[in-house]
Amino acid sequence: MSATLVIKDLHVSVEGKEILRGLNLEINKGETHAIMGPNGSGKSTLANTLMGHPTYEVTEGEIWFKGQTIIELSPDERSRLGLFLAFQYPSAIPGVSVASFLRTAVNARYPQPDPASNGNGQLKGMSMREFRRLLKEKMEMLKMDPSFARRYLNDGFSGGEKKRMEVLQMAMLRPEIAILDETDSGLDIDAVRVVSEGVNQLAGPDLGVLVITHYQRILNYIKPEHVHILVNGKIVMSGGPELALELEEKGYDWIKEAQVGSSK
Ligand SMILES: Nc1ncnc2c1ncn2[C@@H]1O[C@H](COP(=O)(O)OP(=O)(O)OP(=O)(O)O)[C@@H](O)[C@H]1O
Ligand SMILES: [Mg+2]
Repeated sequence: MSATLVIKDLHVSVEGKEILRGLNLEINKGETHAIMGPNGSGKSTLANTLMGHPTYEVTEGEIWFKGQTIIELSPDERSRLGLFLAFQYPSAIPGVSVASFLRTAVNARYPQPDPASNGNGQLKGMSMREFRRLLKEKMEMLKMDPSFARRYLNDGFSGGEKKRMEVLQMAMLRPEIAILDETDSGLDIDAVRVVSEGVNQLAGPDLGVLVITHYQRILNYIKPEHVHILVNGKIVMSGGPELALELEEKGYDWIKEAQVGSSK
């Protein structure tokens, strides 16, 4: 059996410039992986490419999710298959409330047959009552004030509120593989804990998580079994949680030097 998400020799260019240069990674449901790496090494590029952002051109390599190749799929199709990305910089959508955004997203991911359509295939989403119950439960889990549901999506949200919103979306969509791009940046110490606990409550045998972070701090809560270091568009080192501690202590120079040494 191959892994849930398989990335093979991935090369990605942005506006003609190669950013990812032969990246390999496999993630299974039930596993937690962390990617760390210097600014500009290509971490968000990897996340955006996995979700099918049109700016990121796959020039070589393969991406397989649940046994199918997904490079040709739209972001929407990937989301429906169970891939999820929490953005490093989520956008605001003034005029669309959190609740209505989430309802649309949930219904797109889990279309249910409309009992009134007499089996002619028309689809209808979850009932309003069921949706409200689910939303309330998840917002309580993330310690979000109920008034958030009525606010416009990310409009005027603080940095911490935006990150909680991303995890709320993940909780509602129940993906199979979730990529969290710097979900900890800009969070105060309590918020890192609340957001991590939220992710941990969602974690289990049905979810694989890829956490992109600069800091070991979040890894005290979301405990990855695998830590990968991305430098210059490639994973140059993989290890266990101890690798994150080593990085915090020593920075990236020793890895960059080891790379130069090994390519001689
Ligand atoms: N949409 C884009 N348009 C132009 N250049 C881009 C775009 N996305 C990424 N790049 C370039 O690709 C390189 C890698 O960027 P990326 O955002 O993937 O880095 P990162 O590892 O996530 O960095 P950080 O730790 O700062 O978030 C950078 O040089 C960046 O300018
Ligand atoms: Mg980034």
